[in-house]
Amino acid sequence: MAKYRIACLPGDGIGKDVMDAAMIVLNAIALDAEYVYGDIGWKFWKSEGNATPERTIELLKTTDCCLFGAITSKPKEEAEKELNPELKGKGYVYYSPIVKLRQEFDLHTNMRPCKAYEGNPLNYRDDIDLTIFRENTEGLYCGVEYFPLPEELMGVLSMHPKMKRFVNTPLKDIALSCRIITRKGAQTITRQAFEYARKQGKKSVTIVEKPNVLRETSGLMVREARKIAEEYPEIELREANIDAMCMWLVKNPQNYEVLVCSNLFGDIISDLSAQLVGGLGFSPSANIGDDYALFEPTHGSAPKYAGQYKVNPTAMLLSVKLMLDYLGEHTWAQRLEDAVAQVIREEKIRTYDMGGNNTTLEVAREVTKKMMRGM
Ligand code: NAI
Ligand code: MG
Repeated sequence: MAKYRIACLPGDGIGKDVMDAAMIVLNAIALDAEYVYGDIGWKFWKSEGNATPERTIELLKTTDCCLFGAITSKPKEEAEKELNPELKGKGYVYYSPIVKLRQEFDLHTNMRPCKAYEGNPLNYRDDIDLTIFRENTEGLYCGVEYFPLPEELMGVLSMHPKMKRFVNTPLKDIALSCRIITRKGAQTITRQAFEYARKQGKKSVTIVEKPNVLRETSGLMVREARKIAEEYPEIELREANIDAMCMWLVKNPQNYEVLVCSNLFGDIISDLSAQLVGGLGFSPSANIGDDYALFEPTHGSAPKYAGQYKVNPTAMLLSVKLMLDYLGEHTWAQRLEDAVAQVIREEKIRTYDMGGNNTTLEVAREVTKKMMRGM
């Protein structure tokens, strides 16, 4: 039996292109690993009414971790329109596979490094090196939503004085999405951020919330962060509101090291931060739980580039780097990141987004060549 069993879920669109790039690197490293491919994505929603088939969940349970490409997600009405006619009207509801996997495997921590590599013409500044810790299973993405609003729920909500404005609105005209934050969720994500800061020798952690308005949910996040910060006296806890943070990230991104926030806010500032270091083609992520982890570029399936091997594989290759670190293969992880950095610095082999015309796979081969040099 191989030492590692790794699930590969290419998914939709360019997810497949960048997965092929990842496999070029992984095959060269020749880890003692078995790679098993699984079904996920739009095709399975259309044909089976489930974008994340049960067999894929079962497959993941037999593996150590998962490498994920990207999926296509569409809003409710559009999703229903594309469903196989035989399945229509049978109660199938589209759920985003990645959100489902995060919840199913309790992948509570989403870590997203955004680093400006030297020589990247797309860098907003060359001195950016920040990492976002985004709570990954709760908050506004917890999935507790209603439309129309059930009558019993209106009954309970009407006990709140601020609900007065809404009690006469017909139930069929009210949509509700719940923002649920647990003390445990708030503690886990802040602890992960502080642990990372300590290990990496960072001097500050910034909690990005909005406790002046979202008094209870953001309030809980900030209060728990203050308590946890006391255990890390060498690291400064800074507090910023999400709206102001968007401004500060554009003004002085070099001043931030580790950011921690709830699910939606983390989603927003990670795309903003990705763009500061070259865009979605440069932004990797790790979804980490207590017993399982999933690694993916933060970009989506970019349908207009699907199958053209045109997009930048850097986000995916840096996700592979995070996976190697998770598996304890630190030497390979470092070699891979150094090789990616070298290819960017040399300015020779580049995809379209960096002004070049090399393919996804050419970049992966060049990274592999650098990584294996001297081996
Ligand atoms: P997207 O990330 O797929 O692409 C937006 C644009 O970013 C692309 O048109 C391209 O210009 C650029 N881009 C993305 N990845 C790139 C790469 N590796 N190299 C160079 N340029 C790159 O986002 P979009 O268009 O909003 O969504 C497309 C589909 O992907 C939707 O169905 C969406 O729901 C889904 N999506 C899935 C995600 C996931 O699988 N985790 C995350 C985000 C979106
Ligand atoms: Mg996003």
